[in-house]
Amino acid sequence: MKKIGQLGPLNRRAFFGASSGTLAALAAGGLAGAPRTSQALPRVLVDAGSFPKNFWWGAATASYQVEGAANADGRKPSVWDTFCRTPGRVQNGDTGDVANDHYHLYKEDVKLMVELGIKHYRFSISWPRVVPEGRGAVNEKGMDFYKRLVDELLDHGITPHATLFHWDSPQALEDKYGSWRSREIARDFADYTTAVVSRLGDKLKHWMTINEIFCFTFMGYGVGKVPKHAPGTIVQKRKEVLQTVHHALLAHGMSCQAIRAASKDAHVSTVVNFDSYIPVVETPENIEAAKKAFVAEEHNGTVLVPILTGAYNPQAIEKLGPDAADVQPGDMATIGQPLDALGFNNYCGSYVRAAQNARGYETLPLPKGYPHMHTDWLSCVPEALYWGVRLVTDALGKKELPIYISENGCASEDVVTKNGEVFDLDRVMYLRSYLRNASRAIAEGYPLIGYFLWSLMDNFEWSYGYNTRFGITYVDYKTQQRIPKQSFRWYQQVIRAGRVL
Ligand code: NOJ
Repeated sequence: MKKIGQLGPLNRRAFFGASSGTLAALAAGGLAGAPRTSQALPRVLVDAGSFPKNFWWGAATASYQVEGAANADGRKPSVWDTFCRTPGRVQNGDTGDVANDHYHLYKEDVKLMVELGIKHYRFSISWPRVVPEGRGAVNEKGMDFYKRLVDELLDHGITPHATLFHWDSPQALEDKYGSWRSREIARDFADYTTAVVSRLGDKLKHWMTINEIFCFTFMGYGVGKVPKHAPGTIVQKRKEVLQTVHHALLAHGMSCQAIRAASKDAHVSTVVNFDSYIPVVETPENIEAAKKAFVAEEHNGTVLVPILTGAYNPQAIEKLGPDAADVQPGDMATIGQPLDALGFNNYCGSYVRAAQNARGYETLPLPKGYPHMHTDWLSCVPEALYWGVRLVTDALGKKELPIYISENGCASEDVVTKNGEVFDLDRVMYLRSYLRNASRAIAEGYPLIGYFLWSLMDNFEWSYGYNTRFGITYVDYKTQQRIPKQSFRWYQQVIRAGRVL
């Protein structure tokens, strides 16, 4: 196999040090002076498997999923505390009351990160821990936990990245005005943002506003049936769901403004689980089809597109007809705030091909036997990572916007052997395939700057409770023992080598 270092005048360092324009030119057919033999170039690009030196190797968790300490130091309930207590909503009646007890065991967990070798850690801040009533008084004791955590990370050379909202909105705001159904939540979220950033912004620079708008709106409010996510509200019309999406977008935009106002050198991004479309065969026609689907389908057209462009996608809006959200003057400019980067949560994707229909594309169903991982919604579609990154650039023209994978991970059955080991080889297979696609994106010049593996450790998997494990560290919930799995050992070596192993 040819290595990058064998690319004539372009040695490996020059390759990764080159500008994205240079790399794009290389991907498109070569540079003056570089060898243009038909065998060399494509093999190098596909086989690279390498990452630049300054690539963000990281792992992620979220407050409600790991912290526990539900009643400690003045925290009040979130909508997830209530949802967990509603019979039938969460498997086994599991709750986040104790979870991984990370609130008390965070030092041990930072040690785990050091052992793993990550230099970046993504966690989230619990709104009801910091502002227990959702608006008004700040709970300094709750805030102190995040100060302790950030100090511990910095002391160990790990850059903290904080998500301001990962689904645990204050129950008090649900009681007051129905959470995301009300426009008022955007202002309250901006005020909460200011409270956090003004207290932590001297030490923590990397802020992500909101995690996966899709999940707490489209999956938190359902027409006619109980939705899977908190607050789990049944609404009368689909328009009410789209209105929650609009309020979340507004909250994101106002939060961006609040971060920048409170911290001059903040790095501001958001996290979207946008849908990725893979040309079923990489022909020019199918690639065009993937671009069309990427912007026009409902989820991307009503979440990613407005965040990045300040306007809903017209086709998505046309398709929604009377179900489209009401928009007030000035909203779209607020929503389309400039970002320093975009976080991409990627697990799955859809295959697409060109079609002679009005849209110019059709998506293809996955057959029954298609490779599937250990939870109902998770198929193994590694090219989705590459195409998701590529389409932000190619379909939305965001060539200069750095992208990082804010989450990618896999559920496995995870059995502890009598020797105390966990051979999660399916997870390793999954992660390896996705990381190869990350490497391909970089090699072709797309601005992918980092990767946060979901998750550092097993945790509370929402309505699946503790039954579904996504960690590379096994957690024994009875003893709170952490056991690194085979995937942990694998990721550790990948980070060390800077390439997929
Ligand atoms: C995305 C969510 O952000 C995270 O909270 C969840 O646990 C993972 N997906 C796995 O489902």
